[in-house]
Amino acid sequence: MNILITGTSSGVGYGLAQSYLQKGHEVYGISRSHNEALDAFSNFHFLSQDLAAFDEIAGSLEGFLGGVGSLGLVILNAGVVSRINDMKDTSLEEIRRVMDINVWSNKVLIDALFDTVPEIGQVVAISSGAAVSGSRGWNAYSLSKATLNMLIDLYAKEHPETHFTALAPGIIDTGMQDYIYSIEEEEKFPVVQKLKSLKGTDKMPSPEKAAPGIADAISRLKKFPSGSFQDVRDL
Ligand SMILES: NC(=O)c1ccc[n+]([C@@H]2O[C@H](COP(=O)([O-])OP(=O)(O)OC[C@H]3O[C@@H](n4cnc5c(N)ncnc54)[C@H](OP(=O)(O)O)[C@@H]3O)[C@@H](O)[C@H]2O)c1
Repeated sequence: MNILITGTSSGVGYGLAQSYLQKGHEVYGISRSHNEALDAFSNFHFLSQDLAAFDEIAGSLEGFLGGVGSLGLVILNAGVVSRINDMKDTSLEEIRRVMDINVWSNKVLIDALFDTVPEIGQVVAISSGAAVSGSRGWNAYSLSKATLNMLIDLYAKEHPETHFTALAPGIIDTGMQDYIYSIEEEEKFPVVQKLKSLKGTDKMPSPEKAAPGIADAISRLKKFPSGSFQDVRDL
């Protein structure tokens, strides 16, 4: 199967790419930086692209995927966490930066993909429990993931031949968690406290350990309504 994954240079996207490559799938990865460990796989294809450079995306995809007749699976994984802070201390500029990558780049990418690739079987957008939990401090990140869930629901109605899901992947020890671990005002932000206590335990596995479970969850998503939000921890 041909699989497109965004954000393959590190974290969840890297773990998923490795997992699918080991199973022999053709993986098309996109991120700004390249993770050379994936060069060991001849079935890995890489495009270096800043997904926030919206005007470049359609042209880049045409060059990258122009000859690809079908994508069995698209995983919209690239994302950033916002600076953990109260809403009143969060600038509109910060919210726009996070929305650009976590939401609008996926809108531009989905439109360009359907213009470029004749058949797309399944689209999974990597969301977060933060889309629905509204925890103090999660400001732009929560807004972006809640909007991403609705974006996926809306696209599901427009493309009934493709199965869409927004999926919370669980808690994984990536660069995002390193940032959260470095936050000092933890009494103010209870979820920071909780995440810090999980770091280094098996409740926060490495991307390599978590990826097979996420891939397994993805393989079972088609039994849920297209456009829905699912959490790996409930599947
Ligand atoms: N880790 C968790 O516990 C957790 C929990 C819930 C949800 N998630 C979600 O999982 C996804 C992956 O996050 P992660 O934890 O694996 O973090 P990560 O290690 O920081 O990975 C983020 C990936 O996104 C890519 N990316 C970021 N900005 C980009 C841009 N402008 N253009 C292209 N690629 C860009 C990065 O590549 P470059 O920097 O090379 O461009 C990197 O490959 C995110 O959507 C995140 O919200 C993570």
